[in-house]
Amino acid sequence: MSVLITNIGELVTNQPERDADLDPGGAGLVAGRGAADAAREVAGRPAARDAGPAGPARPAGSAGPAGPAALAGSAGSAGSAGSAGPAAPAGSAGPGPFAAMAGAALVIDEGRVAWTGPASRAPAADQMVDADGRTVLPGFVDSHAHLVFAGERGAEFAARMAGQPYRAGGIRSTVAATRNATDDQLRANLRRLAAEMLAQGITTFECKSGYGLTVTDEARSVSIAAEFTPEVTYLGAHVVPPEFEPNPGGYVDLVCGEMLDACAPHAQWVDVFCEQGAFGRDEAAAVLAAGQAAGLRPRVHANQLTAGPGVQLAVEVGAASADHCSNLTDADVDALACSDTVATLLPGVEFSTRHPYPDGRRLLDAGATVALATDCNPGSCFSSSMPLCIALAVREMHLTTQQAVWAATAGGARALRRADVGHLGTGARADLVMIDAPSHAYFAYRPGVPLIAGVWRAGERVA
Ligand code: NIG
Ligand code: FE
Repeated sequence: MSVLITNIGELVTNQPERDADLDPGGAGLVAGRGAADAAREVAGRPAARDAGPAGPARPAGSAGPAGPAALAGSAGSAGSAGSAGPAAPAGSAGPGPFAAMAGAALVIDEGRVAWTGPASRAPAADQMVDADGRTVLPGFVDSHAHLVFAGERGAEFAARMAGQPYRAGGIRSTVAATRNATDDQLRANLRRLAAEMLAQGITTFECKSGYGLTVTDEARSVSIAAEFTPEVTYLGAHVVPPEFEPNPGGYVDLVCGEMLDACAPHAQWVDVFCEQGAFGRDEAAAVLAAGQAAGLRPRVHANQLTAGPGVQLAVEVGAASADHCSNLTDADVDALACSDTVATLLPGVEFSTRHPYPDGRRLLDAGATVALATDCNPGSCFSSSMPLCIALAVREMHLTTQQAVWAATAGGARALRRADVGHLGTGARADLVMIDAPSHAYFAYRPGVPLIAGVWRAGERVA
């Protein structure tokens, strides 16, 4: 059954090539800008190479406005990247730069976006939804979350707000609770958090293991995660568990050996917390190499607490993303800008740890691709709210409202190497969020207000 959503005040598509099709007399670009102007406000580069080993470096800042050629390249490479999600339909580009139409309509058919354009020209459909001037945007793509765990750490948060520092070691208390939980308890907690995310507009999410840290507990973590999302990440290298404290090398061997063998069948990604107090450069490199040899694709917790080697390592191994990026040198920024590794910013962590926010504008100005993710976890950020991340990224990380919304949708898709989500081009999966507001800017303009008025996933209304 086809559905026409009409009378959309602002339709955020992230598909700039469609703007050329617009009738100047009908719906135009928001604020009446031409496509070139909109492209100049690009929030991240749409041009993409594969997620594999880094290709020839591109000079920092070389990413110009996206043209049709760049988008065509994006479609090819993202489609060939072996995404865990459904392949994008032939001919469909991945997410492009921020783009939006006023006075628009959208048709969903068979779970996909079948048509977008001026409301005055909308085709007939089996069912009609009147958006009454509200904003519609792609469902959020949360490319970083830790949702398989038991217990909570509210007291640790309260102590932090009273002046205690955040330390990687706090993870161990969640590890103890997770090991003591039944599969059904872990499943129920994840189900609750996934529902919480969906109600807030997150239609695609990544989920990491990392609170089990034994072969059995990591394997059941990735297996339970795989019941809820295709984007599962093996994070056996989260911290060294207490029983391996005298022998951290032995733990790295386990992560690269028996534990990896047990987890790889359920996962698409391998991640490592490269940080003082967690894993150093060589250990992290060994974990990523072993994961890649087992068919997993790398991503890295990088430069969260210190300006360590994580970002450089992520770029060297062609990781899909370097996450946190809270302490970056100029060389780190250049490395990200000259690579396809997405810089994933997690502003909820800075909020919840009271650490200084990194400057997202610095990364964008250099030409890096930026994603926003929640990092929902019981320790450093127990929030599943992408609208909060957008508001914080705008207010504290100096992103424009367009850049922040792009980073929470198309940026997340790039970080997961997904071409079928994060945009509303024809053929994209019909994952939509409708908000009770006339523009996307309201996420930051009205922070903390429940604006979500409807959510569709694969064409089905789910909230
Ligand atoms: O992304 N940095 C490592 N892992 C999580 C924190 C997990 C925890 O504190 O439990 C993060 O912030
Ligand atoms: Fe994390």
